Amino acid sequence: HGTSRVNENGHLEIGGVDTIALANEFGTPLYVYDVALIRERARSFKHAFENMGVRAQVAYASKAFSSIAMFQLIDEEGLSLDVVSGGELYTAIKSGFPASRIHLHGNNKSVAELKMALDHEIGCIVVDNFYEIELLKDLSHNYSKKIPVLLRVTPGVEAHTHDYITTGQEDSKFGFGLLNGQIEDAIDSVLQSDGIHLLGIHCHIGSQIFDTAGFVLAAERVFEKIKEWKLQFSYTPEVVNLGGGFGIRYTDEDEPLPATYYVEKIVEAVKKQVNELNINMPEIWIEPGRSLVGDAGTTLYTIGSKKTVPNIREYVAIDGGMTDNIRPALYQAKYEAVLANRVTDKHEQPVSIAGKCCESGDMLIWDLPLPEVKPNDILAVFCTGAYGYSMANNYNRIPRPAVVFVENGEAQLVVKRESFEDLVVNDLPLKSKVSNQ
Ligand code: LLP
Repeated sequence: HGTSRVNENGHLEIGGVDTIALANEFGTPLYVYDVALIRERARSFKHAFENMGVRAQVAYASKAFSSIAMFQLIDEEGLSLDVVSGGELYTAIKSGFPASRIHLHGNNKSVAELKMALDHEIGCIVVDNFYEIELLKDLSHNYSKKIPVLLRVTPGVEAHTHDYITTGQEDSKFGFGLLNGQIEDAIDSVLQSDGIHLLGIHCHIGSQIFDTAGFVLAAERVFEKIKEWKLQFSYTPEVVNLGGGFGIRYTDEDEPLPATYYVEKIVEAVKKQVNELNINMPEIWIEPGRSLVGDAGTTLYTIGSKKTVPNIREYVAIDGGMTDNIRPALYQAKYEAVLANRVTDKHEQPVSIAGKCCESGDMLIWDLPLPEVKPNDILAVFCTGAYGYSMANNYNRIPRPAVVFVENGEAQLVVKRESFEDLVVNDLPLKSKVSNQ
């Protein structure tokens, strides 16, 4: 998919660049991003809204993968940016991302994070709870402009991949209950404040969702309430943000729809509601993360040791694992992979790919068909672009890998590999050892 292909040497090539050359130049583990594919995904989301004649913002949920270069790429494509912490906001500002297109999320934003957002006059704050409304009311006295906010609701729809469940009163740490009167109290409170501008409503029902029904149901529930609010508060939202969560294909078990199909179904449902309720069409915002970057990322590893458990299994170890991809250990996530240096060899001997951490659960892929592997073969694991680097960690003091962008035959390093010195940069010695010197 994307620009991936097998070249004349039987090597995996991405963005016109030989992945074996990348492994040699930048070392492994290495995250490789197919920039053209990210651009394609970004454009198709925007076009889907344009084709349906709807004013929209597509915000990249940067928790999926954030770095300065990534944010600059998202800006080039004209998307907005959803950040969820001071750190993501800082990175966005550092990257030169236009503050007016940044949205700040979070269920426990600190005063410092809120101040940072207000100082930079970001596009909106997605308010999660009553405590935050009070903090913003206090802070608003120090700012001349009204603070633009969305109120986040929990619509009582929770989607998990194929299924969605609906509960009257959703048990979630996020947002105001949509069905239990909380959101009306929140709206009332914000509308009474001179310092806050209620731009609209936000909801997000989950992640890696395949079915459109959950999105449609959430939209319907929100719009039914919007009808009531028109009567109760004479208020109609200018913006309705329906979140992210569009699923992608990791293995053959996954059957996502094309990303734009979700947009079409959502917009159709919204249009129907808007007509029935006889209200103005709000701007529709979405915030996809995984579906923008997930399948654009591939991780390259070098194969090292092997262990055969007679009659049971063959373990093959790589130079990374749960430190650069915690998803298999955390969510039993499944991945596909090939030998990047011998893609055309028959992949038919099942081996299990072990990480290098001191933990039995550090298994990346079980029973993966590969050719007979040798040390120094390069394993390419697909679809690691979302929640890979962003959830990477230093367990066992393993430095985090580098990230390269490839496009049109060129590679550029966008995140340096961590060094051992980086690992100890914040460590301080015992006082007694310092005074002895
Ligand atoms: N908006 C909100 C409010 C969210 O909480 C999330 C994801 C998104 C948008 C983006 O969702 P996406 O389009 O990427 O599915 N670490 C997990 C995923 C956690 C998702 C958290 N929220 C994983 O690796 O599967």
